[in-house]
Amino acid sequence: EKQDLTTIVVFGASGDLAKKKTFPALFQLFKNNLLPKHTRVVGYARTVMEHQDFVKKASSFIKDSQEKIDEFFKICSYVNGSYSQSEDFVRLRLKIEQGEADMKTEKVFYTSEKDICGRIIKNKLRVYYMALPPSVFISVSEKIKENVYDANVINHLVIEKPFGLDRESCKYLIDNIGKNFTESEVFRTDHYLGKEMVKNIIVLRFANKFYESVWNKDHIDNIQITFKEPFGTEGRGGYFDQYGIIRDVVQNHLAQVLSILAMECPKSLDAEDIRDSKAEVLRHIPPVTLDETLLGQYVKSTDGTKPGYLDDETVSKDSNTPTYASMVMHVDTDRWRGVPFIIKAAKAVETAKVVVRIQFKDVSTNLFPNISRNELVIQISPKESIYLKTVVKEPGLSNKIIMSSLELEYRDVFTKNIIPDPYAALLLDVIGNDHSNFVREDELDEAWRIFTPLLNSIDQGKIKPLPYPYGSRGPEGGDKFNAKFGGYVPTNL
Ligand code: BG6
Repeated sequence: EKQDLTTIVVFGASGDLAKKKTFPALFQLFKNNLLPKHTRVVGYARTVMEHQDFVKKASSFIKDSQEKIDEFFKICSYVNGSYSQSEDFVRLRLKIEQGEADMKTEKVFYTSEKDICGRIIKNKLRVYYMALPPSVFISVSEKIKENVYDANVINHLVIEKPFGLDRESCKYLIDNIGKNFTESEVFRTDHYLGKEMVKNIIVLRFANKFYESVWNKDHIDNIQITFKEPFGTEGRGGYFDQYGIIRDVVQNHLAQVLSILAMECPKSLDAEDIRDSKAEVLRHIPPVTLDETLLGQYVKSTDGTKPGYLDDETVSKDSNTPTYASMVMHVDTDRWRGVPFIIKAAKAVETAKVVVRIQFKDVSTNLFPNISRNELVIQISPKESIYLKTVVKEPGLSNKIIMSSLELEYRDVFTKNIIPDPYAALLLDVIGNDHSNFVREDELDEAWRIFTPLLNSIDQGKIKPLPYPYGSRGPEGGDKFNAKFGGYVPTNL
């Protein structure tokens, strides 16, 4: 049994991220008895509000019985305060200490605060979860360090993108947060690393002989990583316009997926070994070029019912911010040299799908002309599944050859398993001090190195995104772009 007294402070407790993701994830862990037995959650935000108003806000996205929700909020409290005044953080510390004292009475933990060698027992864990805008990341980390931090307890700082706007601003952020928290105390969240199908890639690759042996340039023609959302930036145009689709999902989520798909076998499953392998891949990717990029921005839907990106009041009328990007990335290692990784990310398109397609090379025999390539398809969302597109003889008396598929649909096969919310999975890792699914500073720096020159060109207006109607498949030329780099557009999946 875990004996730690755990306190989870959620900064930005009245904001969107906390309400939509952090509190529902904490609730899911609580409900499934996955939080350490002695846990307190402290919400912190600027809004002055009574406990019941905090509960109302923080529970607005939790779907469960009132009884269970009430039970959860018994371990939660709220402190209001600024993100810059020391005295507010001192009040927060007192609240945390009060909670720790209360938890101690729940059960006798240790008779002494020291072990037999006189070393202090680090039996307290404090998680500082920053569900905050990036503008206050540094000041909050500073104020925690000055007023809340206790070197005799375990301190974990959880922080989520955006980690800067480019390589330089990211370095500034890393360096300044690094003045207050060590790398081993920092957990940089990329929620894609908490997704079931992303976590599964390492297993699929290294626990299956047949995949492992063909996972290279001799057998694979190209790899496509596609992210599609059927909705635009409605409601968050102001945020999105400073970032664009590349900073929003490509530099982080899709680059992380790519690094796991392309990495060499890590020495072990230790966090540092996995992250070494991923960072090594990123180090071998040259910057993405304008010539190998296609950008788009959505306009009103053809039937006129859905707004264009520029119709958003919070977006400037002449914005060149891309909401669609397709690009080719190259991994310059012996394993991958010459294999294009075709990345596509799109908002306001025809469907919701995040999928990886690994397209194998054409078969070398001449027995069956004009057959399609094998593909291994890993669908990350919405329906977790793995397909292996396989050529078979059509059943019957003809000798016709058709493309069929070996399929593993998670929700049909693993009917007893619940696919966890990525935020819940990652919170559990933070509590258990497992860094495997968090982004290390060198990975982040490399990922920014790859995209910063392209982003600079876009920001300088060197390229205008092509228009595409809301709900369409993207700008004209998207399929041609794909085809040019080797990936054909499959029609039958
Ligand atoms: C976020 C982006 O990081 O990821 C959003 O800011 C995007 O724009 C979201 O919609 C996608 O996450 P998911 O889990 O819905 O695929």
